[in-house]
Amino acid sequence: MTKQIKLYYKNATCEVVGDEHGVSMEALSQLRPRISEITSRLAHQRFEGKLPYRDLPYQEENCDKIMDFTSRFAGRYDNLVVLGIGGSALGNIALQTALNNPTYNLQPTRPGPRLFVMDNVDPVQLGGLLVILEGELENTLFNVISKSGQTAETAAQFLIVRAMLKARLPQANLADHIIATTDPQSGTLRQIVEREGLTALEVPPGVGGRFSVLSDVGLFSAAMCGINIVELLEGAADMDQRVKDDELMRNPAALYAAIQWLFYQKGKNLSVMMPYSYQLKDLCDWYRQLWAESLGKAQNLKGEQVNVGPTPIKALGATDQHSQVQLYREGPNDKVITFLEVESFGRDVTIGAAGDVEELAYLSGQTMSKLLNSEKVGTEYALVQSQRPCLTVRFPEISAYTVGQFIYLFEVATSYMGELLGINTYDQPAVELGKQATFALMGREGYQEMLREIQGATRIDDDFLV
Ligand code: PA5
Repeated sequence: MTKQIKLYYKNATCEVVGDEHGVSMEALSQLRPRISEITSRLAHQRFEGKLPYRDLPYQEENCDKIMDFTSRFAGRYDNLVVLGIGGSALGNIALQTALNNPTYNLQPTRPGPRLFVMDNVDPVQLGGLLVILEGELENTLFNVISKSGQTAETAAQFLIVRAMLKARLPQANLADHIIATTDPQSGTLRQIVEREGLTALEVPPGVGGRFSVLSDVGLFSAAMCGINIVELLEGAADMDQRVKDDELMRNPAALYAAIQWLFYQKGKNLSVMMPYSYQLKDLCDWYRQLWAESLGKAQNLKGEQVNVGPTPIKALGATDQHSQVQLYREGPNDKVITFLEVESFGRDVTIGAAGDVEELAYLSGQTMSKLLNSEKVGTEYALVQSQRPCLTVRFPEISAYTVGQFIYLFEVATSYMGELLGINTYDQPAVELGKQATFALMGREGYQEMLREIQGATRIDDDFLV
């Protein structure tokens, strides 16, 4: 397949946005040896089995297993509900939005069950869905996704659903309604799987949540909803060939990271991703987690305090032109904008005749795709006029193949960026304290001392309540 996504970077260079706000070709050239070194290091880490996410595009057997599961479940369920949070949910949402129509859940002739991804413990959100599903439990499959199996949000959702199934379908076999996606060996959810005899899919060892979308974590719900996971993985595998190149200027992941890193050094620490496509909007949420959780770190690999990390921001074109672009163009020049642009949308809508309304005649007979892409070019032009650096990832079309490329591109770009920042890209120590504090506040055994500390520190002081 030749439909490659491409990175366009001219509008981020000094030639276009000036020396102060652009990256120079010279600075990029100076990074070449360092990038080449990083490319070798990443290849070595991969060879040693330390970057298992890099090999996910090649899991043919596993793909067959998922297809088997999918055909086993096909036609049996009207609803598939994913219970998970963070890396266990965002990839599922992103694939569904990108590769199925926004009206998928409403279509009478869908290729699979309706998909609901519950990535929060909001009582109104979950409670509302459960009311709807109550009468449809016979035809509902829940996929509990948690690598650790002890994330409070997912554990709570699981317990709610299990209790509901036991109460409403007392004769039913739980394993017909709940499957689990978790670590193949360890963790609380793994123990539950064994005890309750649940079907289990795997979060591969060594693959962190935010790098797991191309594993069972994202593939199962995608396959169930008719997404071509073989093409998705093919796209990722083809991108793998491109991001192995040790020449910076031919390697889009290295180049994206190098440009972001050079801007970060210049004080542009806000990285906006702005797709001009509704289908790509949730891939930006996925990217936001990947970039933020991987790169925001207190210490570097030498153990020095560095507190680094660019802040990823999501915006949607053209919607956010009417919300954010005023700031992006006239506010502080501290952002790099990455547009996502689609050449062919696969469908179009023609704008109706303006009749005698002369002011609107320019729109008559034109297409929505032309309007949307013109808005992208117009916004980029306006930003560049104000010396705001812009990158574009161009999709020839949105398909499983191009989305697979995009996912792999940004995963590897994150690895490069982590190397350039000199940090551990794959851990998330800062999330831990909040998780522990939740355990304490929810009365978990062994957390009494922490609870006292938290209560002291967070007691509401009425003097400050206005
Ligand atoms: O990327 C990550 O590691 C996190 O966002 C996790 O995916 C998230 O915290 C959920 O963890 P778990 O899958 O263990 O429930």
